[in-house]
Amino acid sequence: MNYRHAFHAGNHADVLKHVVLLAILEALERKDSPFFVLDTHAGRGRYLLQGEQAEKTSEAQGGIFKLFVLHGLPALLQRYLKRIQADNPVGALITYPGSPLITAQAMRSDDRLVACELQPEEAHVLTTLFQSDRRVTVRQGDGYAAVKSLLPPKERRGLVLIDPPYEIQDDEFAVILNALKEGLARWPTGIYALWYPIKQRRTLNAFFRKAANLPCKSALMVELLIHPDDTPLRLNGSGLLILNPPWQLDTELAPVLPVLARLLGERHPSWRLEWLKQET
Ligand SMILES: C[S@@+](CC[C@H](N)C(=O)[O-])C[C@H]1O[C@@H](n2cnc3c(N)ncnc32)[C@H](O)[C@@H]1O
Repeated sequence: MNYRHAFHAGNHADVLKHVVLLAILEALERKDSPFFVLDTHAGRGRYLLQGEQAEKTSEAQGGIFKLFVLHGLPALLQRYLKRIQADNPVGALITYPGSPLITAQAMRSDDRLVACELQPEEAHVLTTLFQSDRRVTVRQGDGYAAVKSLLPPKERRGLVLIDPPYEIQDDEFAVILNALKEGLARWPTGIYALWYPIKQRRTLNAFFRKAANLPCKSALMVELLIHPDDTPLRLNGSGLLILNPPWQLDTELAPVLPVLARLLGERHPSWRLEWLKQET
């Protein structure tokens, strides 16, 4: 396995993913009872944006660096930036928090996070990051296996975030569909958020046809494209498929997506917010 998220941290795809993640966490916070989050592909938790690795690709330059100092953005985007700023108290953008850190920052004292990471080195860094946080358990191992072993959680409400590296390209979708089926069978009311890359749209069609038949109440697609989706050679954009999304997630995201497309887009940017399946 060669994937290292440090090369991509803070890029346009991370921005979209973490804005959506924050919106879901905020919806979970609206009720007093504790929630549970399973982060199946957690990464190392925090990424240095000013180092050799990040500078090799500078992907964050096309993402968080474009937004960091802006004001007057839609409220959700402003709250997301506050989280990133909280990780950078000196003012300059030096580090970028990953999904487990963003989640832990949003959790109350009785909420719980299990973060899985397969790469031993990444898992070690993640374990160290959360060593004094009793709300967080880090597991070095396969996150898909945790869907089977940890669901349903005792809290009975919460989120499963699935953010794989797609090293096996489109074959990953079969594994994902299987995990979503397993998860929904064990925990039908959980929220499931899956991140997916967009290169050429037509390669995604088969996956969406199958995903529409998953036994969830509803499914929302959220996408941000910084280029047209017509070449397989680069990451033109990305999306999240959210099963059983919280109430009004769509209206919360609606004002944010055009702003992200305008600020992060490069050539003919676009966005999409569409129900793949809607509650009847
Ligand atoms: C896209 S990165 C995760 C980024 C993270 N979710 C975030 O938003 O900050 C994917 C991670 O999954 C890890 N990984 C790959 N296969 C895995 C598996 N089967 N189970 C758990 N982690 C895996 C990789 O080592 C990598 O750190």
